[in-house]
Amino acid sequence: MRDSTASEMSGLLLDWYDRHARVMPWRVPPDQKQAGVRPDPYRVWLSEVMLQQTTVAAVREYFRRFTERWPTVADLAAADDAAVMGEWAGLGYYARARNLLACARAVVRDHGGVFPATREGLLGLPGIGPYTASAIAAIAYDEPATVVDGNVERVMARLWLVEAPLPGAKAELTRLAALLTPELRPGDYAQAVMDLGATICTPRNPACGICPWLAACRARADGVQATLPRKAEKAAKPVRQGVLWIARRADGAWLVERRAERGLLGGMLGFPGSDWDGAGGDAPLVAEWQEVGEVRHTFTHFHLILRLQVTVCPPDAVPLRGEFLAQGAFRPSDLPTVMRKGFDLGSSVLASL
Ligand code: ADE
Repeated sequence: MRDSTASEMSGLLLDWYDRHARVMPWRVPPDQKQAGVRPDPYRVWLSEVMLQQTTVAAVREYFRRFTERWPTVADLAAADDAAVMGEWAGLGYYARARNLLACARAVVRDHGGVFPATREGLLGLPGIGPYTASAIAAIAYDEPATVVDGNVERVMARLWLVEAPLPGAKAELTRLAALLTPELRPGDYAQAVMDLGATICTPRNPACGICPWLAACRARADGVQATLPRKAEKAAKPVRQGVLWIARRADGAWLVERRAERGLLGGMLGFPGSDWDGAGGDAPLVAEWQEVGEVRHTFTHFHLILRLQVTVCPPDAVPLRGEFLAQGAFRPSDLPTVMRKGFDLGSSVLASL
C-alpha cells in the first residue's frame, strides 16, 4: 500500500482478529494460540476440505459428526468407504469425499499418520491443491503461505482497486495478497482475512465504517467497493434430462444402486436412473411404473430435470440393476441431495397409494 507498510496493515487486521475472531469448532482462538495451543492438522484439513464451495453454517454439523465418528486421521483412514460417503451426503462435490478418504489413507500409509508440515509436502497428498495446502500450512503450522479463497479475492480486489474481472484476475489478486502476508502469526492472519471478507467486506453492503482496513482501501476511497470484484459473464447452464426409478418392495425394502466411482456423484448411494441425455432408458425392474412428477437440481455446470417413476413390487421381485436394501438398513440421509429430492417425492407418493 502507498501509505501503510505491509506490517502495519497485517498488524491492524490481527488486532481486529484478536477482538472479533469468529468461533469455529476447528479453530484455535487467537488468545489460546498466543498461549501456545497448536491446532490439530487433521481438524484443519477436514474443515478446509468441507469449506470448499460450502458455507461455514452448512459445514458445522457435518464437521461435528465426522470428528465424533472419526476423531483422528487414522480412524478416518480405517473407515468404510460407504460410511464416509454417507456422512458426506448433502455437502455436494462428492469427489471431495473420495479424495478425503484417499488423503487420510495416504497420510497413514506414507507419513506415519502425521500430516506433512509444509505446503510443499501437503501438495503431494491426494485432493490437496494450492488453496488447501496453503490453508493447512498457514493455519496448522504457521507457515507464511498466502491463502486465497473467494472472501480474500473480494477483500484484495477492493483494497487494491483491481478492476479486472474474475476468474482472470485471480493470479493478480493472489500476488497482491502475498504482498501483505506476514511472517508473524501467518495462521491467524490467513483466518483474519477470511473472517474480514465473511463479516465486514461482504459481497453486498460492506460495513466499511467498522473495517480495520478502511483508511487504506482504494475502492472505498473511490466509492466503488460494492461493485468489486468484477466477474466475467458466465455462460448459461444447459438443461439435462433423465428418468429416476424408485421401487419399494412390499416388505419396505428400497431398490438402490451405488453409483460408479468415477463421474458426478461417484461412489454415492442412489436410485437406478437413465443416462442424463434425454433419451430415457430401461426400467431396472419389470413392474407397473407410475410417473409421479419430476425432480430438479442444479449442479455446477448444468440444470438437471429427472422424471420420477415409482412402483410397489412383490417380495420376490428380481431387479435387473441395483439391489434391495431392507428398510432398517436404508438411511435417506446417505443420499446425495438430488437423490434425496427423488426419495422425498417418491416416498410421499408411495405412502399415499
Ligand atoms: N473459510 C475457509 N476456511 C476458513 C477459515 N479457516 N476461517 C474462516 N473462513 C474460512
